[in-house]
Amino acid sequence: MFRKQLEDVTPPDLEAGHVDIVTDRLRLSPVGPEHRDAVVVALSDEDVARNLAQVPFPYTADHFDAFLEEFSKNSVCGEMCLAISDWKTGVFLGLIGLRSGNPHPEIGYWLAKTYWGKGIMKEAAAALLDHVFAISDEPVIYSGHFVDNPRSGKVLSFLGFRETGNSKVHSLARGEDVDHRDMELTREAYFGIGTEADGGRKRARTRGNSYAMDY
Ligand SMILES: CC(C)(COP(=O)(O)OP(=O)(O)OC[C@H]1O[C@@H](n2cnc3c(N)ncnc32)[C@H](O)[C@@H]1OP(=O)(O)O)[C@@H](O)C(=O)NCCC(=O)NCCS
Repeated sequence: MFRKQLEDVTPPDLEAGHVDIVTDRLRLSPVGPEHRDAVVVALSDEDVARNLAQVPFPYTADHFDAFLEEFSKNSVCGEMCLAISDWKTGVFLGLIGLRSGNPHPEIGYWLAKTYWGKGIMKEAAAALLDHVFAISDEPVIYSGHFVDNPRSGKVLSFLGFRETGNSKVHSLARGEDVDHRDMELTREAYFGIGTEADGGRKRARTRGNSYAMDY
């Protein structure tokens, strides 16, 4: 559904995944070979890799090159993998992406550990969700987190995601199946359409705030 909608609205000469978004502090732009070194350094931290499903550990430049090749060959319209950087300095902070899911797309993300705890992912994910909900009629976005990673759960809850169930998801870095909290975000919850009680309007106001970079 998502894929078809985007095929209908995306100009024919725009490559899959080519999105460029600027927020108060951040720039979200397509990941490329220029990000290799920074990605390898960030994902060589086990605290980052162990919270992700599809990232091997230890992580090498070959893993990054294989990922980039696979993404550029096989990603479909609407899928994206964006580098998050400080738009003023260009410093690489992490990645955020959207991929086709069944039946709805899924959002995933990570930050290099140095940049945790500054509200950066709330700002990046809100910007990407604003974009996706604006260019598609998609009613639902999927995500979730490992149960022992409540920090990510806080980000998702802030954005309006609600738990839909629990599952086991394989973590390449840990080499085992891990308890996972499955979550989804409806368009109504994100934009606060509905009751005041669901917190949507409060989130909408918070998203409008600007943040100061202090790292
Ligand atoms: C998850 C991640 C993206 C969070 O991004 P971030 O920008 O650091 O998030 P924030 O600074 O907004 O912090 C999120 C919240 O978690 C809270 N938090 C911090 N440590 C926590 C902990 N151990 N347990 C529970 N909450 C915690 C923060 O106080 C903050 O709460 P608030 O919303 O009430 O202010 C980042 O930690 C990361 O990249 N982790 C490794 C990869 C990963 O987990 N990716 C997601 C996979 S689902």
